[in-house]
Amino acid sequence: MSDFVCDNLKAGRNGHLTIGGCDCLELAREFGTPLYVMDEETVRRNCRLYVDSIRKSYDGYGLALYASKALCTIAMLKVADSEGMGIDVCSGGELFTALRAGIDPSRIYFHGNNKTPGELESAIDAGVRRIVADNALEVDRISTIATAKGRTARISLRIKPGIEAHTHDFVRTGQIDSKFGVAIETGEAIELAARAASLPGVKLVGIHCHIGSQIFDVDPFLEAAQVMMDFIAAVRERTGETLEELNLGGGFGIRYIDEHDPVDFGAYIGAIAQAVRAKCAEHGLPVPYICMEPGRSIVASAGITLYTVGAVKTIPGIRTYVAVDGGMFENPRYALYDSPYDAVLADRPLAPRTAPITIAGKCCESGDLIQENLWMPECRPGDILAVLATGAYNYSMAGNYNRNTRPAMVLCKDGKARTIVRRETFDDLVRNDVVPADLQEHPGHPARASGQE
Ligand code: LLP
Repeated sequence: MSDFVCDNLKAGRNGHLTIGGCDCLELAREFGTPLYVMDEETVRRNCRLYVDSIRKSYDGYGLALYASKALCTIAMLKVADSEGMGIDVCSGGELFTALRAGIDPSRIYFHGNNKTPGELESAIDAGVRRIVADNALEVDRISTIATAKGRTARISLRIKPGIEAHTHDFVRTGQIDSKFGVAIETGEAIELAARAASLPGVKLVGIHCHIGSQIFDVDPFLEAAQVMMDFIAAVRERTGETLEELNLGGGFGIRYIDEHDPVDFGAYIGAIAQAVRAKCAEHGLPVPYICMEPGRSIVASAGITLYTVGAVKTIPGIRTYVAVDGGMFENPRYALYDSPYDAVLADRPLAPRTAPITIAGKCCESGDLIQENLWMPECRPGDILAVLATGAYNYSMAGNYNRNTRPAMVLCKDGKARTIVRRETFDDLVRNDVVPADLQEHPGHPARASGQE
């Protein structure tokens, strides 16, 4: 058992926090703060877990895909690819990044609930292995675009299996009231499957579901797998076609704080495989090609964010604000979802936690908090504070609110840190700003021009 919520973190010989063999104080000194730090070995270990489980539970008949929305950079996709993962993308930008990373299109799955015609065209041109179609309009568009190009797109359908997973409302997607996919209950899904089977330019080869994110129970996954297998049987009955691929999405929960108790992924996947096989026997179906799409559980616990503490404000009887040089522009998850995080001080990570604090960001917004009521040792200006398990949905959801620049990201391995995302500059911020011709002269304020100032 590690001293920290993520087992890749250690207190080094000098007592400082280390990740991937790197001293966090030195990282902050060398690369500046805020800084995203990723531990390469942990990412690789997590990828292997899924790749191995496909081998063990499905005799290798399947593909584990890294859901790149969790953290999409060229280097990160190369790491996942080199471990044998396929890549799930959900926008033209993620597809572009994957192609730039040299990912073989035959290992790319393209998602999204409202792909633009341009995105569909890029996916078809690139020859991605699968387009996961969300709705009838999209199936028709794929058919039209592929037919015009003399191609056949191999698609699957995003299905709402009607499962309620216990997680935050914004990240719950499998139930009927969701913007994603088509529902089984209403008959919409079977109608679309029948339609897709009859259209030119598309070949319906599978179905997909994703019931939510940061899920700790096995049951919703088991239930979803069963419902999806029943649906494959229903499609065969309706169309005579046996769909060959079952994609069960991502959603496996990770430990952000001590109280979180994620299940062992291997056991999870083994149980799902059993449920799938039982359904195959029941319906007389062959075992489908299985896909999974973990995002968070590949990268979240591999990452931390380092900050420099600025002002510390104690409001007597109320709370202590510890302000850091980051905030909701680089980690919006507490502001959005009240997501829990743990944090430690990089030079004394095991110091006793003496009082609750609120970690505040630097944006002009009261809700710009990284965490509230977190018991910490006394924090002083200049301390390097590490927020833990920030590898997923931090950088990928970052923005430039208040024209803050997005942090750099380093990838650590065997005590060496390499930059994989450079820190944004002020020039980056104004790169896309355009000044119309009539403003180019910049005549200044009339008062200034008339010399009254
Ligand atoms: N596949 C599909 C189709 C998805 O929509 C998602 C996540 C995944 C796979 C990966 O799920 P994961 O293994 O990462 O749970 N921004 C939120 C999470 C949104 C997840 C959206 N879809 C957060 O910060 O918690």
